[in-house]
Amino acid sequence: MPDGHKPADYALDVRNLRTAFPTDAGTIAVVDDVSLAIRPRETLAVVGESGSGKTMTFLSVLGLTPPPGKIVGGEVLFGGRDLTKLSAEELRDIRGPGIAMVFQDPLTALNPVFTIGAQIVEVIRAHRPVGVGEARAQAIELLERVHIPDPARLIDNYPHQLSGGMRQRTLIAMAIALRPKLLIADEPTTALDVTVQAQILELLAELRAEDDMGMVLITHDLGLVAKYADRMAVMYAGRVVEYCEIHEGFAAARHPYTHSLLRSIPRLDGPAGEDLAAIEGQPPNLEALPPGCAFRPRCFLGSDRADCAAERPALLPTGSDAHLSACLHWGELAAGGGR
Ligand SMILES: Nc1ncnc2c1ncn2[C@@H]1O[C@H](COP(=O)(O)OP(=O)(O)OP(=O)(O)O)[C@@H](O)[C@H]1O
Ligand code: SF4
Ligand SMILES: [Mg+2]
Repeated sequence: MPDGHKPADYALDVRNLRTAFPTDAGTIAVVDDVSLAIRPRETLAVVGESGSGKTMTFLSVLGLTPPPGKIVGGEVLFGGRDLTKLSAEELRDIRGPGIAMVFQDPLTALNPVFTIGAQIVEVIRAHRPVGVGEARAQAIELLERVHIPDPARLIDNYPHQLSGGMRQRTLIAMAIALRPKLLIADEPTTALDVTVQAQILELLAELRAEDDMGMVLITHDLGLVAKYADRMAVMYAGRVVEYCEIHEGFAAARHPYTHSLLRSIPRLDGPAGEDLAAIEGQPPNLEALPPGCAFRPRCFLGSDRADCAAERPALLPTGSDAHLSACLHWGELAAGGGR
């Protein structure tokens, strides 16, 4: 249990989840002993560079691990059940009314040959015994809720007739159609311009509050989502390396990787033209991780320390049960040194 709350408090409790793919180099764990939890009505930001395992963690939660990948360990507790033990049919009943996901790519997530209305109606009718007319009325209401203008007309548009922002709103409408308890938004703003990004995050925050949902915001841009999340889980090479309240993470990050991520966020109050501090070094290759801490080759604290090379550090409390770090030397990161 990551932070001392009882299981019943959680909308979702992921424990020691492992998802692996067979490769020529042997089996690699793309999700490697991940534990995290989302309380009812809270928003968790899941942050990390490309390939860190953010999407795969939540595809695994939903029972959608792409073959030949599969879950090889751990539990996914939701509504008193372990989702890793459910049949394909039972999982289908959870997806939508229990947990819904807004997928990473709005263009491929929508079917180009059907109108958006037909696609929303299909989602509703797959789970609810309503006729086409009633489902269409509900779809128009949903499009209103995501602030699509003139929904009674736009409902008959095809995805390519909509802007990127409107397509993303449509996907969000589909995701909330069955009133999920938990909404997972995977990079909901990638490929959108900055103004639209902010509007989509505002919309998600509004819907989360209206429907009392828990929410996961998957992103590689911590700066963008910080305002909208309560806590954050930072992932590196398939593992959670820091897990804490979001303001704690910003004020006093306790993993060198989080430090580096925070330093790479452009400061709105910084001098004009200030260069971004890019994270040095190559992203990890899961097929050839170094012994010990996977972040060691890029770490400003531990790159030549013997203990960092000895074994992969576990995610452990750092002073408080609510702030976990997988760094042996977190105590050396100065308080307030995140930015
Ligand atoms: N179908 C697949 N077969 C084998 N490996 C895969 C497959 N899909 C993803 N992976 C690997 O799993 C790891 C985690 O991928 P994942 O998509 O979860 O990353 P991510 O953190 O969501 O990255 P991004 O920010 O680019 O979306 C990566 O190393 C990726 O190469
Ligand atoms: S354990 Fe060592 S190498 Fe890993 S992040 Fe901490 S200081 Fe760096
Ligand atoms: Mg992803």
